[in-house]
Amino acid sequence: MKILVTGGLGYIGSHVVVELQNEGFEVVIIDNLSNASLEVLDGITAITNKQPTFENIDLRDKPLVTAFFKKHQDITGVIHFAASKAVGESVELPLLYYENNLNPLLYILQELQKKAGAHFIFSSSCTVYGQADELPITENAPMKPAESPYGNTKQIGEEIIKDTCKVSPNLNAIALRYFNPIGAHETANIGELPTGTPQNLVPFITQTAIGLRQQLSVFGKDYPTKDGTCIRDYIHVVDLAKAHVTALKRLIKNKNTTPFEVFNIGTGKGSSVLEVIAAFEAVTGEKLNYKIVARRQGDVIAAYADTTKAKNSLGWETKLSLKDALRSAWKWEQKIRS
Ligand code: UD1
Repeated sequence: MKILVTGGLGYIGSHVVVELQNEGFEVVIIDNLSNASLEVLDGITAITNKQPTFENIDLRDKPLVTAFFKKHQDITGVIHFAASKAVGESVELPLLYYENNLNPLLYILQELQKKAGAHFIFSSSCTVYGQADELPITENAPMKPAESPYGNTKQIGEEIIKDTCKVSPNLNAIALRYFNPIGAHETANIGELPTGTPQNLVPFITQTAIGLRQQLSVFGKDYPTKDGTCIRDYIHVVDLAKAHVTALKRLIKNKNTTPFEVFNIGTGKGSSVLEVIAAFEAVTGEKLNYKIVARRQGDVIAAYADTTKAKNSLGWETKLSLKDALRSAWKWEQKIRS
C-alpha cells in the first residue's frame, strides 16, 4: 500500500517513515525542507535499506497538491505532519501558522474526498487540553481555549477533519494527541534537528551537555508538584512512531468504531523537569549545568496521558522508557556534533 507522509523528513515524520517501511508500506514523502534537511533521507535509507520516494512540494500551493494526487492515484493513506510547531513564533506570526497548518490540511482532505476509499492520520497534540482539570488526561477531557495560535490550529484541525468525515463515507481518520515526544532512533541515523536555540527541554539538555549551551534554565520550581517543577509525559519517538502504523492499520482493516477517532499517545507516566535531568545524568554519566529561573509564560503545571483508550481500542502501548529515550537522544547529539 502506498502511503503519503507529509513532513516526512521532520523529527516525528522521519521516524514514522522508518516504521512504515519496516512494515512493508510503500512511502512517498512530501516535505518543503522549511524545517528539515535532505540528509534525513539518507538516515531513513540507512536504517531500512529502502529509499522512500521524495517530492519537494509546498502544500500551501493548491494546484501542486492536486497535481501530486493526480500523479500518485494509488495513494490510499496520508499521515499528515507538515506544519509549523513553535509556540512562541505562532504568537508573533499567527497568519503564517494558520496558513501553514490549515491550508494544506484542507487541500489534502479535498483530494481524499474524491477517492473511493482513503485513510487519514492527523498529528495532534495534548496542547488541545490546556491545563486539564483532572489527571491523567482522558480523551474526554474538554478542550480549553487555546493558549496560542499553534494550539488553536491543532484544535481547529481536528474540527475540520471531524466535520469532513461526517459527510465523506469513503474517508476515515484518526487524530493522535501526542504528549512530549523525545529521543531518537537507536541507530542514531535520525533524530531531532532543532534550528536555532531549542525551545523544548530534551534538545536543550543534550546541547548543554555537549557544550553548545552554557546552562539549562529550569523554568520554575514553585509549581504545586512533587518537587516544584512541571510534570510532563515524555514518550520515546519510536514508540510514538509505531502508534501511527497501528492507527493506520486500524483504519485499513475497518476496525474503527466512528469515522473520526482520537487517541492520546503518551506513556501514562508523569516526570518532573528535575526527574528528567536526574535520569539524563544517570544514563549518560554527564553532570548537567542548570539553574532554576522564573516560570515560562504559558506552561501548564502538569500533563500526562490516560492511555487506557489507546491500549484497549488501538492495542498499542509504549515499550521504551524515559531512560531509553534520553540515552538515544544523547547518542544522537554526540553523533551529529562529531
Ligand atoms: C511545548 C509547547 C507545546 C507543544 C510542545 C511540542 C510551550 C509552552 N508548549 O510543550 O504547546 O505542543 O512543546 O513539542 O511551548 N523546560 C525547562 N527549560 C527549558 C525548556 C523546557 O525547564 O529550557 C521545561 C518546561 O517548563 C516544561 C518542560 O520542561 O515544564 C517541557 O517543556 P517543553 O519540552 O518545551 O514541552 P512543553 O512545554 O510540554
